Amino acid sequence: MGSDTTEAAVAAAAHNPDRITVVDHPLVAHKITMLRDETTPSSAFRMLCQEVTLLTAYEALRHLPVHNVPVKTPVAETESPVLSGLAPAIVGILRAGLVMVEAILTLIPHGRVGHLGLYRDPETHQPVEYYRKLPENMDQREVLLVDPMLATGGSAVQALDILTAAGASDIRMLSIIGCPEGIAAVQERHPDVHITLAALDPRLNDQAYIVPGLGDAGDRIYGTK
Ligand code: PRP
Ligand code: URA
Repeated sequence: MGSDTTEAAVAAAAHNPDRITVVDHPLVAHKITMLRDETTPSSAFRMLCQEVTLLTAYEALRHLPVHNVPVKTPVAETESPVLSGLAPAIVGILRAGLVMVEAILTLIPHGRVGHLGLYRDPETHQPVEYYRKLPENMDQREVLLVDPMLATGGSAVQALDILTAAGASDIRMLSIIGCPEGIAAVQERHPDVHITLAALDPRLNDQAYIVPGLGDAGDRIYGTK
């Protein structure tokens, strides 16, 4: 968390501000503005989602455990850190989370990928599951759940329910834009999950879209509207 304004917004939005990080960085802010702009075409929108994911993943993955291994450089022998344990699981909520998964894989090429197909019913705004495929041994992996939008939080909560039922216990979530309603829903049911956001917006509208948000992330990424 960075500026006083961001800290105040997080404190107002979250039961537990310690479990929220809003990345406060001029590059992230600039790219978020381009994502918000309704004239940004799908090609640029996809690229921007990936860039924001890379910049914010740096914070979301800061806790990953490491241990030292011996390494011989051209100059000397030394000990240097590598990631510990089984490969982390990167779990994307379809469709929109897919672009974030691809970005994280450039940082963690040995990561294992999980897919959860969830869409929001247009009338009820409740998530409907249509696909599930997770890596083995979820109980032994650090898990990063990714989805660009944390709106009502329904999709995130359902995804987290699925992940915990699969045995995962060390779970973090990375979204591009969140709002107080989504944070509250996650913190109520999954208080241990740390959420990292690139932006925290003030509210939802009566269609359960984030305001000002960026519109429908899946449609903008894939050009389906
Ligand atoms: C979007 C988004 C999240 C969900 C967030 O997906 O990618 O998964 O909405 O809303 P919530 O917090 O209120 O659950 P959508 O359901 O539109 O599916 P799509 O990615 O297939 O377009
Ligand atoms: N899903 C989106 O794609 N955008 C929103 O603002 C809310 C849910």
